[in-house]
Amino acid sequence: MCGILGYIGSKNATPYLLEGLKGLEYRGYDSAGLYVAGQGVIKRSGKVAKLEESIPSDFAGNAGIAHTRWATHGAPTELNAHPHCDQSKTIWLVHNGIIENYLEIREQLLGFGIACATETDSEVLAQLVGHHYAEGVPLEVAVGTALQEVRGAYGIAVASVREPDKLVAARFGSPLMLGIGDDGYYIASDASPLLAHTRNVTYLNDGEMAVLEKDSYEIMNLSRDVLDKKVEVLDWDIESAQKKGYEHFMLKEIMEGPEVIENTLRGRLDIENSTAKLGGLADVEERLKAIKRIIITGCGSAYYAGLVGELLIEEIAGIPVEVEIASELRYRRWTAVPEDTVLIAVSQSGETADTLEAIREAKKQGILTLGVVNAVGSSIARATDAGVYNHAGPEIGVASTKAFISQMTVFVLIALRLRELQNSTAYSNSTQEIIQELTRLPAYIRSILQNKDVVSDIAKRHADMRDALYIGRKFQFPIAYEGALKLKEISYIHAEAYGAGEMKHGPIALIDENFPTIALMPKDSLYEKTRSNIEEIRARGGKIIAVTSGDTQELSKITADIIMIPQTIECLQPILTTIPLQLFAYCVAHERGLPIDMPRNLAKSVTVE
Ligand code: F6R
Repeated sequence: MCGILGYIGSKNATPYLLEGLKGLEYRGYDSAGLYVAGQGVIKRSGKVAKLEESIPSDFAGNAGIAHTRWATHGAPTELNAHPHCDQSKTIWLVHNGIIENYLEIREQLLGFGIACATETDSEVLAQLVGHHYAEGVPLEVAVGTALQEVRGAYGIAVASVREPDKLVAARFGSPLMLGIGDDGYYIASDASPLLAHTRNVTYLNDGEMAVLEKDSYEIMNLSRDVLDKKVEVLDWDIESAQKKGYEHFMLKEIMEGPEVIENTLRGRLDIENSTAKLGGLADVEERLKAIKRIIITGCGSAYYAGLVGELLIEEIAGIPVEVEIASELRYRRWTAVPEDTVLIAVSQSGETADTLEAIREAKKQGILTLGVVNAVGSSIARATDAGVYNHAGPEIGVASTKAFISQMTVFVLIALRLRELQNSTAYSNSTQEIIQELTRLPAYIRSILQNKDVVSDIAKRHADMRDALYIGRKFQFPIAYEGALKLKEISYIHAEAYGAGEMKHGPIALIDENFPTIALMPKDSLYEKTRSNIEEIRARGGKIIAVTSGDTQELSKITADIIMIPQTIECLQPILTTIPLQLFAYCVAHERGLPIDMPRNLAKSVTVE
């Protein structure tokens, strides 16, 4: 969604702002713009490349702000693009989030003779700051006063023509961080544009404002009480945020699967003592010993990872779990939630607005909140009481791939930890067996990736399909949903997922020779059942693509399209069946010539509701 950048220091701000805008393209946007002190503003609808073409070579200055906009209020036009200004064109402001009372404020501004020129809620904020920016009032005072009058979510960066050597940034509900470099200070809404300049960062919390000058900065609350903030070191390397020769980030991120699992597991398995260690949960282990119920939440792929987590925790630790989409959970009536309940929020970006709100609701109930988060220092990582980082590295492709397999892996670790903490003698495989198979996962994934051409051939043959059905049972049921989501979001093909056992209850009516079914059927306890389902589909003329570790000879009587995966224990098999589905979606979209890393209408980080 919207991306924010800012720089002030001894260098020319323009190159950082432009490179940064390119680095933020993956988040999804439809217009872009920048303001550089002493030069003015340039905005364009459409791609950053179009903006770049319009920037003269001497467009230089030591301070500036920039923005990629994902339209919410008003069409993606040049007029509605950021930066926005006040009536006197003194204040320039970029905004991420939604100002909920913008209509009310617009009315009030009209009463002061200030008329807005755009359809956006963001301009209202620029005008409001301008209104409070009377002669002699410092920028941060005007910003702090204006922000106390707005409701909603914001991450903002503000520049002033009157004070060209100052920038102000502030946040409430939308991510914003500062990079502290040797040659100046950087503002960014996510870490990736900072990596080439500095590793030292400070995350703004809700209600905080940063005042940046060329040689110094201060962080304060909106009443301007100065705060003592920690500077943290980003441990992501710059290469991991680049394509490394792959045509698309999505393919690169799928191919990183083996290392992602290694990184997620690193230092967390004690093979000798047959136990999993999770440093991020150490402080809450006493509470975890007594928990009786778990609620998992997240959106999209993170929610599907949560559905796998539900099965893992129930199977391995024997604790009852329910999973709810964050956008639903936040609005449910939370009836008498017992205090021995824990909420686990799953999020790659750590910035998803609905997930963050669900956490806030859980906190109101006084229950323990945990995060399974990839982006270190993100809002969800900080909003939760404790948590486990994925260590999957930056995920740039809009479709989540490596984060998803890492999320499932983290759930295995959490389930093992809970099993030990609760002394659970529950079900499923022994801890030793699970740990042993976890360590083999990278090799299994490597072998699937080596057979990428098999998936690619099948994808090419089916690339012109209009619909697809994904089916699976138990651990494969959420993977069916995830596979269907991957296909629809990057290839724009209608795809549905069903529990294989549901076929006879309705969806089998859809089946004909043009409606292929992707059947997830590793050789597990439900293999025979799913095999019966695909027989029924074939009997109605349906084409099958089987993802299996079963008997190829036997399956070849039903279908020629078989994708083999290695055999592991049932609870880890979903991590393996995911990989060919990611490759399949990628290859279909590639065959159809689509913009895989930036599919239409989608944003990487969904920071508004
Ligand atoms: C699908 C996808 C989305 C995200 C969802 C949650 O490929 O990427 O469905 O999984 O928007 O995002 P995070 O995990 O950042 O909270």
